[in-house]
This record gives sequence, C-alpha cells and structure tokens, in this order.
Amino acid sequence: MKITRRNTIRLLGAGLGSALVGAHWPGLAQGTPAFPEPRLLSVRRPEVGLVEASLAARESNLTIGGKPVTLLTYGGLPGSTLRLREGETVRLHFTNHLAQVTNLHLHGLHVSPEVDDPLAQIQPGQSRMYEFTVPKGSAGTYWYHPHIHGRVAEQLYAGLLGLIVVEGPVDAMPELKGAEEHVLVLKDFAFSGSRIAPFTPMDWMNGKEGDLLTVNAAIRPILRAQRGTLRLRILNASNARYYRLALENHPLYLIATDGGFIEKPVELPELLLAPGERAEVLVRLTRAGSFRLQALPYDRGAMMMHGGGMGMMNHQGMMMGMGPSRLETLLTIVAPPNPKPLPLPTSLATVERLDLTKVVATRRFELGERMMQAEFFINGQMFDPSRVDVRARRGTLEVWELVNKTDMDHPFHLHTYPFQVLSINGRPQPYRAWKDTVNLKKNDVVRIAIPFRDFVGTTVYHCHIVEHEDRGMMGVLQVEG
Ligand code: C2O
Ligand code: CU
Ligand code: CU
Repeated sequence: MKITRRNTIRLLGAGLGSALVGAHWPGLAQGTPAFPEPRLLSVRRPEVGLVEASLAARESNLTIGGKPVTLLTYGGLPGSTLRLREGETVRLHFTNHLAQVTNLHLHGLHVSPEVDDPLAQIQPGQSRMYEFTVPKGSAGTYWYHPHIHGRVAEQLYAGLLGLIVVEGPVDAMPELKGAEEHVLVLKDFAFSGSRIAPFTPMDWMNGKEGDLLTVNAAIRPILRAQRGTLRLRILNASNARYYRLALENHPLYLIATDGGFIEKPVELPELLLAPGERAEVLVRLTRAGSFRLQALPYDRGAMMMHGGGMGMMNHQGMMMGMGPSRLETLLTIVAPPNPKPLPLPTSLATVERLDLTKVVATRRFELGERMMQAEFFINGQMFDPSRVDVRARRGTLEVWELVNKTDMDHPFHLHTYPFQVLSINGRPQPYRAWKDTVNLKKNDVVRIAIPFRDFVGTTVYHCHIVEHEDRGMMGVLQVEG
C-alpha cells in the first residue's frame, strides 16, 4: 500500500493547472497551493446577544490536491468555522443528511451535557437544535465533530469536523488585534481511489493515520503574510496523528491552549499537539524569507506486526514499535519584505488558581489495552453507556490521577468540564492553563484538577484517538446537583 506522500503529490501535481504559486520564491517547490482559510459559517443575529446558524452533515465531493474525493463533511473541509462572542446565546440547527446515524459534539465548550449530549442519536433526515450560551471568559479555539460511539473514527476521518472560535474582550488588545489571524486545521488522510481507504485491524489498534497531510484541506500550502505578527489557531483534527510543530528560525509564542488564554505568552521551540488538542500561537516575523512549519518526528508508540500477516492477529505474530514518524513540512510561511512584528502582550488573562485544600475526591483512572483484540479499557472496563463510572457533585473540586499502563500514547479528554493539569510524573506544569485534552505517554501519571461547575447531567471522558474511544476507552461521568 506504500503510496508515499511524495508520490501522491507528484500524481496530483498535474491537476493543479495554472493556479500554481511559489515559482518565484526560492526554496519553495512548484505546485504548492495558496493557503486556504476555512469558510465562516453564516450566522444571523436577529437581536443583540442571540446567534442563529444552520449546519448539516452530508456526503460531499471535493478535491484535495487537485484530486476528486468523496468525503462526509459539514459543507466542506474543514467545516465552516462558527465564530461566536462570549456571552452570546446560540441556536444551532443541525440536520443529518448522511445515510447513517450521527450527532454533533461541541468539543471543549462548557455547555450543558443535556444540550451537548454525547449519547444523542440523530437519524438520517432528522434535525436537532443545539441551544447554549457561550461562557464568559471562554475566548479561545474549540471544534465540533460527531460522537456516535462505534462510528466516531470513521465519521471524523471522513471529514466531519469544523472549528468554533470564541471572541472575547482580551482579543481587543492591540498586540492581538494587530496580528494577522489564521486557523490551521491539521488532518491526515489515506485514500483508496476517491474514497477513504478502509479501516484495517492495525488502524483499530493504533488509530488510523494517512500519508497525505493537509492544512485546511490543502497539501503544503503557502501562507503569504501581510503583517509582521501572525496569530495562528491550530487544531489537531486527526484521528491519531501527533504533530510536534516547529517553525524554521522562529520560536512559537503560546498564548492559548484548549480552554482559552494562558496568563502570558510562553516561548516554545516546539509544540506537541495530540489529537483533539488546540493551541494558539503568535509568530513574530523579523526578516523577509520563507519558513517551513514542520511536524518533527514523534514516536507515539504505535505498533506494527512482525513475522506474520494480519491473519496472525490472534496468534503468535510479534508486535513491534513502529518508531518515530517522519519529518514532514505542513505549510510554508512567506514573510513580507520588511516585517514589523508587534511587541508581545505582557499579560493576557487571569487563569484561576484552584484551591486544592477544597478537593473532595481523588480518583484514579488506569488506561489499559488488549492490543491484539484492539480492545481498550479504563480501569479494566470497556465503555458501557448504561453504566455510570463516576458520580460527582456539582460545585465540588476533584483531582483525577490518570495512569497510562499501555505501550502507546493516549490523549485523555473530558467533556463539559475544563480542567487544569497539576503535574505530569510529579513535575508541576510550567504555566497554568485550562485544558480539555491532555496527552499521556507510556507510563505517564498525570494529575488533573476539575471543578464541576454549573451543569448537572451525564457526559463522558475518553481517549481522543477516536478508534480507542470506539473500541472501549471511554467512561461515563454523572454530575449531580
Ligand atoms: Cu472531541 Cu468526546 O470528543
Ligand atoms: Cu469533547
Ligand atoms: Cu488511546
């Protein structure tokens, strides 16, 4: 099956026609597309504070790299960005035009689980209205995707995803307002003809990756910056691929994580984004030139079979680590002739310091697997929607200790209730941040603190390698009043 990415690009290059850019830029390959910005979802604001919008899931014929493909999307790839403001009430009318059951999840938004119900089923032809209020202080980058247990991997891989951007008062500061803003949705694909390549047993074990890496559905696009400071909102929308991001000759200044702004920019030589995670970074361009945004090699412990075909899965085939991923170029940023970057913001927001003397419960969650069967567990149990795994009380603070007893990384995600990472293997985090997804490497012990605020109801936590979620690595949380 080894169609390498390079071959694929060569195959696709012929179809790109005269829209080629990059020929005049030394160091840039020919055949690279201009950077495409995802469309905005059109919204109505019939009165102050109220937003109405419609969204539908359907089969879509698109082109990726000049090649026709059939995907499942929310009206394009990525789906249109839903841009909201803090405090607004949103009425999102969702319709399922797929030939299969689906639903919609607002990943990361602190919204009642009765609205953002991960167990809801929306049958073909049916609609559902999602009405919620965008929390104050939640300015940041979120996303939406389906959440039907057993089908998330296939529906997400096929293209059902879009961004949610929340704007708030912090965005008005000159150091942010003067930046040139872009969203980067990172997603890989494997095609067979014009369709998504079928899931293999190995895909169900490791999570499905693909050799075709895209940014906003474009292959290695070129972003021609007009200004000296860029603000990039980055989403890892891949099922299983990790992105260890680095920009040539430039540090990244982290300003926001999953749950919005951190307190002040943090300079990073590189940034790891696990599936489901988001980050916002500032890039300060100080001289002309073109700079590649790269995914550096990363070993997430994915496995391959050795000494036997897939038919040997349940027999004595040997499992071996696949080793690190290859270095890949995702995007090229071309700086303007005389870039004048803005000063960095000195402070962004206040991230609450949680009072850990108030913790009412400390719980332990052990991630486990039976690799050959592609079965995944939390505390030895596979997901069962009729079983409540954790009962918590509204208005309390809990600490969860997450332990990865498998050979592979798993990004742990909790719905509805943002948390703070207290420590990883006993080491405190260098800065405070609200998160909804945190990566666990093999043998990691991660402690998170969760305030159960506002909402009662039933929701879930799971691994965001969505194949693992579909194959059991999910639990049910019930918060009572
Ligand atoms: Cu983005 Cu339950 O997940
Ligand atoms: Cu979620
Ligand atoms: Cu996992």
